[in-house]
Parts: sequence; structure tokens; C-alpha cells
Amino acid sequence: MAEKFAWTSEYETGIDEIDRQHRDLFKKFDNFSIAIYNGEGKNQLKELMAFIDSYINNHFKEEEELLSLNNYPDIYKHLEYHKKFTSIFGIFKKEFEKRGGDTYMALQLEKEIRGWWKNHILTVDKLYVPYITIKTKKNALPDDME
Ligand SMILES: [Fe+2]
Repeated sequence: MAEKFAWTSEYETGIDEIDRQHRDLFKKFDNFSIAIYNGEGKNQLKELMAFIDSYINNHFKEEEELLSLNNYPDIYKHLEYHKKFTSIFGIFKKEFEKRGGDTYMALQLEKEIRGWWKNHILTVDKLYVPYITIKTKKNALPDDME
């Protein structure tokens, strides 16, 4: 059985919305690992690619807004990591569009993309946690503006 992308407390940032989004991603990859194990990886590729695509748009955008709202000093470094991921994923996307998915691609995607996220959350996302005091835009508004 492929390694499970198990969620443990070490991945928690303590920021509810970010943790919820990260957990969604883990779950998606767990299902994908199971699909690969059952010989269905190739069939699930299209859906996973579409999921990651929209995940990048929503999750990166929200996280970046949060960092900006909190004046995170290393925001530009963090944005670079997100850009790097987008370009790694872009290579997969191009490949997928060109020759369609196969089992090998499913395995590569699982390994590389999952690995990237584990590492990113544990070593890069964790760095901003102490700087996040304002967690949502709504919270940033004074009481009488809500
Ligand atoms: Fe991030």
C-alpha cells in the first residue's frame, strides 16, 4: 500500500482555515494513493489535476492575503515558493495535456507533489505562524464595522 498522507498534529498551523485547506489536500492525496493501489491512478489523474489547479488558486491566494494582512516580513520568499510549486505543477499539466495521463505519471505526481506539500507545510508555512495575529479579514475590522 502506498504511504498514507496521514494528518498529524505536527502539520497544524493553528490557523483554522489554513489547516482545513491543508487537511482537504491530504485527504485528496490519500484517496489518490488508494486509487493508485487499486490500479485506478490513471483514471483519477484528471480529477486530481483539476483539484490541484483550483487548490493553487484558492489556497495560495488566501494564504498570501493572510501574510500580507499581517505584514509578514518574509512574504516575498514565501511567494517564491508558491511560484515554484505552480511551475512544477505546470510541467505536469503540460505533459498531461500533451500525452494524457498514465500510471507512471500518477506515481510521479503522487510522489513529487505530495512530497512538496509535506515539506512546504512543515518547513515554510510553519515560519509564518508566529506572525499571524490577524486571522481573517473580518477579524481585522473594528467591531462597529461588522
Ligand atoms: Fe504556503
